[in-house]
Amino acid sequence: MKILVTGGAGFIGTNFIRMMVLNHREHKIINLDKLTYAGNTDNLSDLVDYPNYSFYVGDICQPDHVEPVITGVDAVVHFAAESHVDRSIQDAAPFVITNIFGTQLLLDFAREARVSRFIYVSSDQIGGSLLPGIYLRENSPASPNNPYAASKAASEHLVYAAYHIHQFPSIVARLSSCYGPYQYPEKLIPLVIANALEFKPLPVYGDGLHVRDWLFADDACKAIYQLLLKGRIGQIYNVGARMEKTNLEVIKRILKLLDRPEKLITFVTDRPGHDRRYAVDPGKIERELSWRPQTEFEEGLRKTIDWYLRNIEWLADTRSSSYREYYESLYSSRFAVEPTKPEF
Ligand code: NAD
Ligand code: DAU
Repeated sequence: MKILVTGGAGFIGTNFIRMMVLNHREHKIINLDKLTYAGNTDNLSDLVDYPNYSFYVGDICQPDHVEPVITGVDAVVHFAAESHVDRSIQDAAPFVITNIFGTQLLLDFAREARVSRFIYVSSDQIGGSLLPGIYLRENSPASPNNPYAASKAASEHLVYAAYHIHQFPSIVARLSSCYGPYQYPEKLIPLVIANALEFKPLPVYGDGLHVRDWLFADDACKAIYQLLLKGRIGQIYNVGARMEKTNLEVIKRILKLLDRPEKLITFVTDRPGHDRRYAVDPGKIERELSWRPQTEFEEGLRKTIDWYLRNIEWLADTRSSSYREYYESLYSSRFAVEPTKPEF
């Protein structure tokens, strides 16, 4: 297959493209990425000479960027998005533009190009905060609580509408919280690793008892590939690891693995409208495609930490001046109390 991947220079897109180009050489991968702050060409620089990989800098919101790369492709895997909740609270406009408008534009061009599969990568956040014991099912109503989640829910609906009206061959892969190599250090796990390495305070929103279902990126990518090959069109598939953890549990495990003191943990002002718990029921993809996550949380965390330790320069580069500006703008007001001082 000739597969157009959007947002392939970001976290999950990079993991997906590396898996496809290195392990599934029968496919040809075309990566279209705008290279926002979250996109990084270093992630894939060792692949540029592979005959089954090509890269185009472009915006999914620009018809003249999309049309030339989508013509003649068999399938689309659509990752490109603004993906960080805190940024969506600061400024929702880029989320509406890329995640909603960009997705619709891509759907229109993909339909014109008569692609035979379109995988839309969505998020468990579309279901909003869930009480303990409740799981998001594929047919649960959308109930998003922040602009990022609302934009993902809107685009899921647009993807479904294309199927409903035009029998467009789309599938929604609705992922839980992913972690692993190449994740930009604005997200919890890489941010904690980066700060802990430097004995910097670790900002924990609220009481730290918010729950996420943690899915190793490799496992998410394998699920997406299975859906590309065997998923039923017009369907949503939840992809989760049944690996619910509170943020504090996650942070304490990272500190243990890095041999850093728990006193780095610093409770800060909560994220406004912070969803308490996400949890998907992945029963459908398990039953239909026999997909199962293969990575235990402890093992995934070790692999992730190892990767960041081996790629200290990557981490330093991503925490450039614009990252520092972002960090300052978000966190200076959140550190409501004097941060815990580390002891050396
Ligand atoms: P990311 O922020 O790391 O990467 C996004 C990529 O999209 C970047 O390379 C960026 O340059 C690119 N991009 C942004 N706007 C673009 C545009 N207009 N045109 C072309 N490229 C553009 O995101 P991620 O964490 O890898 O997430 C990938 C997808 O998976 C997103 O759709 C996200 O909503 C979804 N998702 C992520 C998670 C997670 O835990 N990371 C979980 C569920 C769903
Ligand atoms: O659940 C899927 C979603 O997971 C994806 O759709 C999003 O793209 C992805 O960013 C992620 O969303 P979260 O908001 O859950 O991820 P984040 O890493 O920002 O936060 C994880 C949890 O950690 C959340 O409860 C907020 C908390 N947190 C986060 C940061 C960055 C902190 O306590 N401190 C922090 O500094």
